[in-house]
Amino acid sequence: MCFSNIVNFDINGCNYKLPVVYGTYCYEKAINISQLRENTGFITFDPGFKNTGITKSSISFIDGEKGELLYRGYPIEQIINKCSFIETSYLLLNGELPNTGQLKSFSKRIEEFNSISKEIYKIFDKIPAFYHPMGILSSLTCILTAFTDSSTIQEEKDIYFHLLAKLPILAALTYRKKVGLPIHYVDVEKTTNNNNNLDYNYTYNLLKMFFSVPKKSYQINPVIPDALEKLLILHADHEQNCSTTTVRLLSSVHANLLSSVSAGISALWGRLHGGANQAVIEMLENILNSGGNIKKWIEKAKDKKDPFRLMGFGHRIYKNFDPRAKIVKKVAENVIQKLGISDPILELAKELEEIVLKEPYFMEKKLYPNIDFYSGIIYQAMGIPKDMFTVMFALGRLPGWMAHWKEMRLNREPIGRPRQIYIGYKKRNIH
Ligand code: SDX
Repeated sequence: MCFSNIVNFDINGCNYKLPVVYGTYCYEKAINISQLRENTGFITFDPGFKNTGITKSSISFIDGEKGELLYRGYPIEQIINKCSFIETSYLLLNGELPNTGQLKSFSKRIEEFNSISKEIYKIFDKIPAFYHPMGILSSLTCILTAFTDSSTIQEEKDIYFHLLAKLPILAALTYRKKVGLPIHYVDVEKTTNNNNNLDYNYTYNLLKMFFSVPKKSYQINPVIPDALEKLLILHADHEQNCSTTTVRLLSSVHANLLSSVSAGISALWGRLHGGANQAVIEMLENILNSGGNIKKWIEKAKDKKDPFRLMGFGHRIYKNFDPRAKIVKKVAENVIQKLGISDPILELAKELEEIVLKEPYFMEKKLYPNIDFYSGIIYQAMGIPKDMFTVMFALGRLPGWMAHWKEMRLNREPIGRPRQIYIGYKKRNIH
């Protein structure tokens, strides 16, 4: 049952009417306040935009109460079993899944851009090894602007292939510098994805750029590329999360895609956002190394005076299980089992989740595990260092950021410039 199309409200005895905006699902409804200040002199006040829709988008949809996530209408549970990350990227950018021919040319276009200027390697050499990988990725993504002249990018849509090809190279350079491996040039290998379509095999080549060692043929347990493919897909888009909204804001002022994505990477770095996957593992290691007393840490998380939060739990939108967390947990268990490693951190994570989900404090506040709770366990098992977990998140989120940047431009939305409630000094003079 949809709501009416108008809301009535009174301010100081005057009656006002504002239109109601509906989404695809009519329980997603909004009061359109674009004329509010003009008509009433009031603005709204909503720190953190908890109740504010900043745009209309058709890219992804989250039903937080049901714990559902759709990419262009397809449930994430279907995407994860039927699509590759490159097919998912095509879907997010173009609105439909690619047919075989479209997938082949999409993959081919990415291959065309999978090298970087030697100037970048020179810049890279100057970056101190102690610089956080997310800072390196954000900086180098912005520097790519200098190497993306019109001769490189014949058409605007090439910029998407350019970034899809180059971000993994920048991530791999960062990893190899960090662990002291020689910088390895990507060489493309074609295999078939899970739909038996020949595609660039993006994920296999990403891992090869990270881990291959000169003069040794590259072998990898197939459970790893399969797990990474799933993680990239699960991270690909998520409505107006902080980093995606950041990218949209930059798009609204016509910043170019590379600098917009660079800003998105910086936003994702925040420990309450994408940086949480690193913080979760550090938290679990802390709990383990301090004796494994889970109850003590749960009490700390509940204590308002204690700044400690249970990293990997809670979400602005999901007030039920994060559907991605359920999938990541299964992938983590499969990877650990197939690699034959016993991981005390995974065991602790499962024990912690079980205890928390029975804890009234967390149940009342509807705090469930989010995507960051188990993902670090998989990255760690792959040999990815902790401070690169969020880099892996960024590699997955890239198609979503690009799709939102593109949607913003196509919809010609106004510059994102919110108002404020001023609480500073009244006008005064310098004496
Ligand atoms: C991501 O937006 C997205 O979609 C993000 C993301 C994506 O794909 O882009 O899903 C990825 O960023 C996932 C979230 C990763 N971050 C963490 O795991 C960090 C720990 N979680 C919290 O910091 C928190 O839950 C947030 C940041 C995720 C959500 O914060 P909100 O929506 O602003 O909620 P809040 O801080 O207002 O908390 C509501 C209440 C508070 O208690 P009260 O003041 O009401 O008494 O719940 C409590 C909070 O103290 N609370 C927690 C908690 N999370 C919330 N208490 C203990 N531990 C926690 N983790």
